[in-house]
Amino acid sequence: PRAEFVSELMSKMTLDEKIGQLNLPTSGDITTGQSNSWDIAKKIEEGKVGGLFNIKTVAKIRDVQKLAVEKSRLHIPMIFGMDVIHGYETVFPIPLGLSCSWDMAAIEKSAQIAAREATADGINWTFSPMVDICRDARWGRIAEGSGEDAYLGSRIAEAMVRGYQGKDYSTGTTMMSCVKHFALYGAAEAGRDYNTTDMSHIRMYNEYFPPYKAAFDAGAGSAMASFNEIDGIPATGNKWLLTDVLRKQWGFKGFVVTDFTGIPEMIEHGMGDLQTVSALALTAGVEMDMVGEGFLTTLKKSLDEGKVTMAQIDNACRLILEAKYDLGLFEDPYKYCNLDRAKTEIFTKSNRDIARKIAAESMVLLKNDKQTLPLKKSGTIALIGPLADAKENMGGTWSVAGRMNDNISLLAGMKAVAGNSAKILYAKGSNLDYDAKFEENATMFGKTLHRDSRSPEVLLKEALDIAGQADVIVAAIGESAEMSGESSSRTNIEIPQAQKDLLQALVKTGKPVVVVLFNGRPLALVDEEKSATAILDVWFSGSESGYAISDVLFGAVNPSGKLTTSFPRSVGQVPIFYSAKNTGRPLSNKEGKFEKFRSNYIDERNEPLFPFGFGLSYTKFEYSNLKISSNKVGMNDTFTVSVDVTNSGNYDGAEVVQLYIRDLVGSVTRPVRELKGFNKTFLKKGEKKTVTFNLSAEDLKFYNSDLQFVAEPGAFQAFVGTNSNADMKVDFELTK
Ligand code: IFM
Repeated sequence: PRAEFVSELMSKMTLDEKIGQLNLPTSGDITTGQSNSWDIAKKIEEGKVGGLFNIKTVAKIRDVQKLAVEKSRLHIPMIFGMDVIHGYETVFPIPLGLSCSWDMAAIEKSAQIAAREATADGINWTFSPMVDICRDARWGRIAEGSGEDAYLGSRIAEAMVRGYQGKDYSTGTTMMSCVKHFALYGAAEAGRDYNTTDMSHIRMYNEYFPPYKAAFDAGAGSAMASFNEIDGIPATGNKWLLTDVLRKQWGFKGFVVTDFTGIPEMIEHGMGDLQTVSALALTAGVEMDMVGEGFLTTLKKSLDEGKVTMAQIDNACRLILEAKYDLGLFEDPYKYCNLDRAKTEIFTKSNRDIARKIAAESMVLLKNDKQTLPLKKSGTIALIGPLADAKENMGGTWSVAGRMNDNISLLAGMKAVAGNSAKILYAKGSNLDYDAKFEENATMFGKTLHRDSRSPEVLLKEALDIAGQADVIVAAIGESAEMSGESSSRTNIEIPQAQKDLLQALVKTGKPVVVVLFNGRPLALVDEEKSATAILDVWFSGSESGYAISDVLFGAVNPSGKLTTSFPRSVGQVPIFYSAKNTGRPLSNKEGKFEKFRSNYIDERNEPLFPFGFGLSYTKFEYSNLKISSNKVGMNDTFTVSVDVTNSGNYDGAEVVQLYIRDLVGSVTRPVRELKGFNKTFLKKGEKKTVTFNLSAEDLKFYNSDLQFVAEPGAFQAFVGTNSNADMKVDFELTK
C-alpha cells in the first residue's frame, strides 16, 4: 500500500512540487549553523518545502503544518526534525558521557524518553545518533559520539536507533532517527572541525564504518552526509560513499539529507558552482537538501540540460514521501501535534528521575586515594570552582530543547542530597580562565556563564577562606558546556590555567581535594592526577546533574562508568586509542622507558594517562578462573570465554567486564587488541559471579586488503578484565 499510495500521489505532482519535497529549511528557532532562508510560509504554501527543522513547540508546529496541509495544492504534510541528541527537555548526559555507562538498556531508554518527549511536542525526526568514531580529543564534537571503539560504538548505535524508533513509527511516540555524520567526520585532520579527512579504505571498513552500518542494520530511517571530504570528494557529493557503500553494499532503503549547507559548501571545497554541486549531490545519492536550497533553485535547470534525470528526482521524492507515510503523516498530519501530550509528557518527574539514575551511571571515577569518596554527610565541605554553581552549563552541548534554567547545579544538588547533616560552603574561586574567551564562546544556546569581575586574587582569597573552614574540598572545575561540541576544537586539552592554579592553591591547604571534573572531551590531566586526592569525571550530565553527581559523591550510587575514550597525557599523543597496531618496532619494556630506534617519544610515554575501559569503583572486583571452552575453534563452532568476578570490597556495585581479542598473525596487520564483548554486571558485597561470553568465528572477522570480511585461521588470544589493559589471557587457535 505504501508504494501504491506514493505512486498515486506522485502522479499528481508537478516537477516543482517534487523538487519542493527535497527542500529542508530551518525555522530559525534554534541556531545550528549560518543560514539566510526567508519567506518560509510562502514557500510552504507553494509546495516548496518538504520539512522544517529546529522549530520548537507543538503549537508552532501545528500552525505551520496547517499551512502545508491546507494551503499547498496537494496538501502534503511536512516532517519536523530537530537535534534531539541526548534528550529533549529532560536532558541526559552528553553522548560521550552516556557511552561511559556501557549500559545498553539505559542508553536505549534515554533515546526512548527523548522520542516520547519530542513527539509530544511536534517533532518526528531526530538528527541522532551521532556515531562518528573519534580518537582526537582536540575535536569538540567528540562530546557527541560514543568514543573511540567500533565495537562498542556499534552496540550503542543500535541501542539508540531502537530507542528512538521502537519497532516502527506507528505509535506516534517514536520518531525516525538520522544516522550522522556519514562518514568519517570524527577523523578531521588536526582535530579541527570541518577539516579534511583522509584514510585508507581498510581502516574505514574495520574501524570507522561499523557503527554506521550497525545503525542502518538496526533500521535507521535516514542518514546525514558529513561535511568532510573522503578520497578527495566531499561526502555530500560522494557517489562511492552514498550509493556504492550505503545503498549497494549495505542495502540502505531510507533517505539521505545533507548536513546544513553541505551542498553550497561544495563550492568552497572547489567542486564547481551551485548548479554543478547540486547535481553532483543528487547524482551521488542525496535526497534532501538541508538549508542549502541548491536543489530548489537549480535542479529544474539541470534536468533541462540533461545534468540530472527525472528518475533521480522521482527517486528522491519517493523516499521522502515514503518516510512521511511510515510516520503516519498522510493518515494524520497532526499525529505529533497533540497539545495535551505536550502538557503532560514532557519534563515529567518520572523522566527526570530516570535521567538522574542514568546520569549517575555515566560518571567515571578516575582516582580515589585513601577512599576519600564517598563523602560523609557530616562536617564541613567547601565547594569551590567556576562550574559549581553553573546550572545553564550542566546540559552540555546540543541540549537545544533543554530547560537550562531548570537544570540542577552541583551546589543545589549537594545541598539537597546532604540535607542538614553536612555544612556546604561555596565560593567561585576563579573564572573559567584569566581571559574571557571561554565565557564569550559560551553565549550560544543560552549557556552564558557569568564572568565574575573581581580580580583573580580576590576570588582565590574567598575560596581559601572557606577551604580553611572545611574538612574536605570539592573542586568543580574543567570545561564549560560550549568548550566542546560543534565548532569548539581546542589545541590545548588541559584544564584552563586559571582553574589549574586554583586547584594547586587548594591542594596546598593540605586538605583532601576531590575534583569534580566537567568536560566534553578527554582532557590531559597529568598535574591533576598527581595532586588531587580524588577525581570524578561527570561530563555534562544533563537536567539532573547536581543531584546525580551528589548521589555518587555521597555514596547513594557506587560509580560504575568506564571510559570510552583514552585520556592522553598530553595533546602530543593525539590521536591515541587502545586498538592500535603493534608496529615493527614496539617498545620492549613495560615501564614506558625511552628506547632509541623504537616507536616512542623522547619526552613522553606511549600509553595514555587513563586507558579505554578504565573506571574505578568504591568497591573492589577480583577476577579469577579465566576459561575458554576449547583451545581449538573451527570456522563453524561457537565457543565461550568465562571468568569469575568477585566483589571483595565493602560496597555493592556494578562492574563492566570486558573481553578483548588479539589476532596474532594476519594477512594484514591486526590491532594489539580489540573489544569483542562486555557485560555490565551487578554484584552485592561479597558476591561472586561467573561471566560468560559467547563467541564464534564471526567475532574474529575483519576486512582484508580486498575488503572481504573474513576470519583467518591461526593463533589468537582473549584478554578479560576491568579495562583495556586487562592482562589475564587465554590462547586459542582458529582452525580451517
Ligand atoms: O544535525 C546538525 C549537525 O550535526 C551539524 N550541523 C547542523 C545539523 C542540524 O542542526
